[in-house]
Amino acid sequence: MELFDVYSLWDIEPVKAKGCRVWDKEGNEYLDFYGGHAVISIGHSHPVYVKAISDQAEKIGFYSNSVQNSLQKMLSQKLGEQCGYPDYSLFLCNSGAEANENALKLASFYTGKSRVIAFKEAFHGRTSGAVSITDNPNIQSPFNSGHDVTFVSLNDIASVESELDKGDVAAVIIEGIQGVAGIFVPETEFLQQLDLLCKKHNVPLIVDEIQSGYGRSGKFFAHQFAGIKPDIITVAKGMGNGFPIGGVIISPKFEAKKGMLGTTFGGNHLACAAAIAVLDVIKYESLVENAALMGEYLKGKLLNIKGIKEIRGNGLMLGIEFQHEYSTVRNRLLFESHIFTGGAKNNIMRLLPPLSISKAEIDIFINELANKLK
Ligand SMILES: Cc1ncc(COP(=O)(O)O)c(C=O)c1O
Repeated sequence: MELFDVYSLWDIEPVKAKGCRVWDKEGNEYLDFYGGHAVISIGHSHPVYVKAISDQAEKIGFYSNSVQNSLQKMLSQKLGEQCGYPDYSLFLCNSGAEANENALKLASFYTGKSRVIAFKEAFHGRTSGAVSITDNPNIQSPFNSGHDVTFVSLNDIASVESELDKGDVAAVIIEGIQGVAGIFVPETEFLQQLDLLCKKHNVPLIVDEIQSGYGRSGKFFAHQFAGIKPDIITVAKGMGNGFPIGGVIISPKFEAKKGMLGTTFGGNHLACAAAIAVLDVIKYESLVENAALMGEYLKGKLLNIKGIKEIRGNGLMLGIEFQHEYSTVRNRLLFESHIFTGGAKNNIMRLLPPLSISKAEIDIFINELANKLK
């Protein structure tokens, strides 16, 4: 059987990784400024993480959600404390798209309505509901486009208000920072007004922190820069540092009913052990603070490089918009300098390194990038 050929692949096969470094099967060492698409939060193969998963696999790796699992409780308690939402509850699932699917379902159960307001250029995943609120018709099948979704421009509060006034909205969903679009941070005032409007209409505000959450922005959640408190927050990527896990963080105003949401694999023992280790390392190594500090350092260094039109983002979720076509720069960084970076459309490079990145590693990247742009 061949693999279903849906990915464009670099001709590189990583076989080993540690911290912010990756090695391919020929033994070449790479610096990771992509984090496997914002997934690597605490660094590759962190010893605390490796031990937690291995120890758990020795004990019990999986049982269904029909029995007690104290690891799930430990995870939700630690997450609630660290992310600043101790009074919210947690539904565990397996991926970002699945987290958004469940968030939409919950909001629709709550309101009894079905229309969703999403934002232009948004990316929320590839399952049916998640892809329908993703502003990219190329990845929607006729089956997915049956959902009732209205796309509004980011930061356009008047349009959101006129849509909410129609009274048929189940949820508003927004990324903490738009990632796939090329790193666009919603304006603080816009987020504050959005939060107020949603509360006024009693329409759940869902903030998708799948890429921007878990410390990446320099706060646990990117929306916390605006001081707002959404009704539902979705997480995945950095939550498991590579172990597949996602979560829906839910305000106490939603009442849980048996069977309302569910999954076979969500919250399994191995995933919980991985996610608990991630939270412990984030806390004891002050990685949220490191993301803030290193993000500022990186931004400051980028400002001195020629050929850059704009630098956007917060913490270690940065977008560099180049003045000219930059794909050769990105290829040369990868194949000559052995540095992974992320792409986006319109000459935008995304930097999403592990939250443990150091000044020395940033200096290497800056030096190599400056050389390529000479
Ligand atoms: C903001 C955002 N939401 C949702 C997703 C989908 O996550 P997953 O690929 O785990 O389903 C992504 C993935 O890139 C994302 O960036």
